[in-house]
Amino acid sequence: MKVLILFGPPGSGKGTQANKILEKYPSCIYISTGDILRENIKQNTYLGKLAQNYISQGLLVPDEIINSMIENKIKNINDNIDFLILDGYPRSTNQLEFLLNLIPYKDIKVIYLKIDLKDVINRIVYRRVCPKCNKIYHLLYNKPQSNETCDNCNTKLIQREDDREEIVTNRYKVYLNQTLPILDKIKQLDIKFIEIPADKDINEIFNNINEFIKN
Ligand code: AP5
Repeated sequence: MKVLILFGPPGSGKGTQANKILEKYPSCIYISTGDILRENIKQNTYLGKLAQNYISQGLLVPDEIINSMIENKIKNINDNIDFLILDGYPRSTNQLEFLLNLIPYKDIKVIYLKIDLKDVINRIVYRRVCPKCNKIYHLLYNKPQSNETCDNCNTKLIQREDDREEIVTNRYKVYLNQTLPILDKIKQLDIKFIEIPADKDINEIFNNINEFIKN
């Protein structure tokens, strides 16, 4: 199975680009660890209760929980898909090593969306999401057609609880300390990799991503 990893700090546009990739390649499968955790919090599951403590502080949920969640998802995927998109995983050295035991490195491509903290804050504070279909908006750059309701399903948009500025700053620090270092490992392993400045227009970024997918 081919795997496309969307890698980058909070607010770099991983979810936004994943949606565009899915529009273009509808037969690929999309796994966002953040979406799965939020769904579990909404359903008040055991996993959701556990994850809530970490997410509300902007910390990573422990590796063993995330790895077993990913393993369960991946083993149920049919090999005939175009490719699997992973958004928000791996996020630590341990998670990368775990993934490499499931998927050979030659079948992996990594897209690194690079952006600074000041842009991240601006992105996230104005982000709104649809709690029903997970579509992502920005109140300045990527607005819904009518006031704060989803274009797809007309549901009232919400702000994520972990999108408060002080939590975002913490998420960015956690990203710098625990997630960014795995890029060195990715480069050492000769995994196919592209770095894209994420402060460009959404469609321009997608065009770069699409070229990388095709090659
Ligand atoms: P998760 O949900 O994965 O959050 P994240 O990685 O912090 O990323 P975001 O969803 O905040 O941002 P994004 O890059 O998807 O940007 P978006 O496209 O929305 O994780 C949440 C939490 O869950 C973590 O903190 C952790 O606790 C836990 N967790 C998840 N995975 C884990 C793991 N593997 N291990 C351990 N814990 C884990 O865009 C942001 C905004 O910008 C939007 O408003 C959008 O409209 C706008 N925008 C996007 N692109 C552009 C552009 N080019 N120009 C202008 N605006 C843009």
